[in-house]
Amino acid sequence: TTGVITIPVVVHVLYNVEAQNVSDAQVAAQITVLNKDFAKANADARLIPAAFAPLAVNTNIQFVLAKQDPTGAQTTGIIHKQTKITSFTTNDVVKFSKRGGDDAWPASNYLNLWVCNLGGGLLGYAQFPGGKANTDGVVVLYSSLPGGSSVSYNKGRTATHEVGHWLNLRHIWGDTNCGNDLVADTPTQQTSNYGCPDYPHITCNNKGDMSMNYMDYTDDACMYMFSAGQAARMNALFDTGGSRASLLN
Ligand code: ARG
Ligand code: ZN
Ligand code: CA
Repeated sequence: TTGVITIPVVVHVLYNVEAQNVSDAQVAAQITVLNKDFAKANADARLIPAAFAPLAVNTNIQFVLAKQDPTGAQTTGIIHKQTKITSFTTNDVVKFSKRGGDDAWPASNYLNLWVCNLGGGLLGYAQFPGGKANTDGVVVLYSSLPGGSSVSYNKGRTATHEVGHWLNLRHIWGDTNCGNDLVADTPTQQTSNYGCPDYPHITCNNKGDMSMNYMDYTDDACMYMFSAGQAARMNALFDTGGSRASLLN
C-alpha cells in the first residue's frame, strides 16, 4: 500500500464513577497523540539518539474518530456508558454489553478502543491481528490518556503502544531474554526497560537498547519512535489479503 492509511476509531468509555468518564476533548487529545506518534510528528522525536535517527519513520498510518456508526448514522465516534463494574481486567468483560462493558463495532471497519478502569496496575492490553472480531481492539486505562492522573504514563503513549500490538508489533525484547521481536532493525535487547534509561544501555552484545521505542516499557516521556522495520510490519497488514486490509474500505 502507498499513501496514508486512515483508520476509523470508535472509543467506548466505560465509567463506574464520574472521574473515569473522560471528556470528548481528552479522547480527541488521545487521537492527536496517536496521529503525531504514528507520523513521527511528536515533538520529542528530536531526542532520538543519532544512531537510531535514520531508522525512525513516519508509519503513514493515521486515525480518525468514526463519523458513521455501523448503521450509517452520524456519530461522534465516542460512546460514554456507565457500568456497575468498578475495575476491569484482561478477561475482555469490557467488550460485552451484557457483562457490563460495551459491544465492539465490526472489527472489519473500525478500530475499537475501550477506555475504562483497569485493576492490578494494568495500563492497557491489545488483541493481535487474526483473532476473534468481537474482542478485537485495544483497551487502555482511563488515566493514561493525555493529561490523566497516571504518573509517568499520562501522555497517551499507552494507546500508542497498544495500537502497535493491534498492528502486529511485539515487545521490542521479544518477551524473552534477548528475544526476537520479528523486526530486523530493532536491536536485540535483554528485557523490558522501565523509567528513562540513558543511551546507550548495552545488552545482548547490541550497541544500545532502543528503549525509546514505543514497544518498550519506558515512561511515556521516554518513548518516542517506531522503526522502519516496525512500520513495514504494520503496513503489510493492509496489503491485498492482509488481515487488516478491510479497514481501507
Ligand atoms: N504494560 C502494557 C503492555 O504491555 C503497556 C505499557 C505501556 N507503557 C507506557 N509507557 N505507556 O501492553
Ligand atoms: Zn505491550
Ligand atoms: Ca529486532
